[in-house]
Amino acid sequence: MAALAAVAQLFSGHSSARMIAAYQPTKLAAFEGHYDSLAIGDLYLFGYVDQQKEQVHGVSIPGMLSFLTHDDFKKPIPGLHTFPKADRPKTVNFVFQTYHLMVAIGMALIGLTLLALFFWWRGKLFEQRWLMRIFTVAVLLPQMANQLGWYSSEVGRQPWVVYGMLRTSDALSRSVTAGQVWFSLILFTLVYALLFVLFLYLLNKKIKHGPEDLEETEDIPEYSKRYAESGNSPN
Ligand code: HEM
Repeated sequence: MAALAAVAQLFSGHSSARMIAAYQPTKLAAFEGHYDSLAIGDLYLFGYVDQQKEQVHGVSIPGMLSFLTHDDFKKPIPGLHTFPKADRPKTVNFVFQTYHLMVAIGMALIGLTLLALFFWWRGKLFEQRWLMRIFTVAVLLPQMANQLGWYSSEVGRQPWVVYGMLRTSDALSRSVTAGQVWFSLILFTLVYALLFVLFLYLLNKKIKHGPEDLEETEDIPEYSKRYAESGNSPN
């Protein structure tokens, strides 16, 4: 399931990228730090954007962004210079990093789950303790990718709330004060922190308790109890 979901994520991400190429071109340009007005688009594996010099330092696959967007390695992609400065995101390097980290996590999850699938096919998955250990920690990766994807999507769309129509500065509510925003933000953080601590406490309790004995459980069907009594139960 994990392997299927991880590979499906790549296709869904790819189709999102094509959508933003068509409808939010400044966001796509920011994702790759692509400044040149009508240059062929390269796809960076990693790097950083020098916003002063308006160039990217890193390792890229030449023309790959053009290929993924237009099925053509030579087709130009509108860069950030195509658009007025007031209409582009200011924090290009931030968006570049969040986007590339999200994609890197996506690729790592594809690699890990396909590797696990291979070991599973060979009947040796549960002998690979090192992989099991990585998977225990890897639970956090999709959560991180979710946050990073969200940052990329929201910050990459700036200065717009509705692309090309409503600026973030015009979308601010005049009746909500900064103090009220702080108050609700702190309150939300506290409530979620409390829920997180509770989650860890209950999860830990459940893990320490271990699986329940069949006798303890009342609503078990009669045939399961007979099966357990026959001595064949995995417990
Ligand atoms: C495998 C490679 C991946 C690619 C190519 C990819 C591509 C994209 C693109 C292009 C966007 C921007 C969409 C937009 O602004 O409309 C995006 C946003 C997002 N991605 Fe990824 N992504 C990948 C992996 C992941 C993974 C592994 C996760 C989480 C498990 C993830 C979660 C998100 C989220 C939550 C958003 C924000 C969506 C929104 O706010 O509309 N992505 N991704």
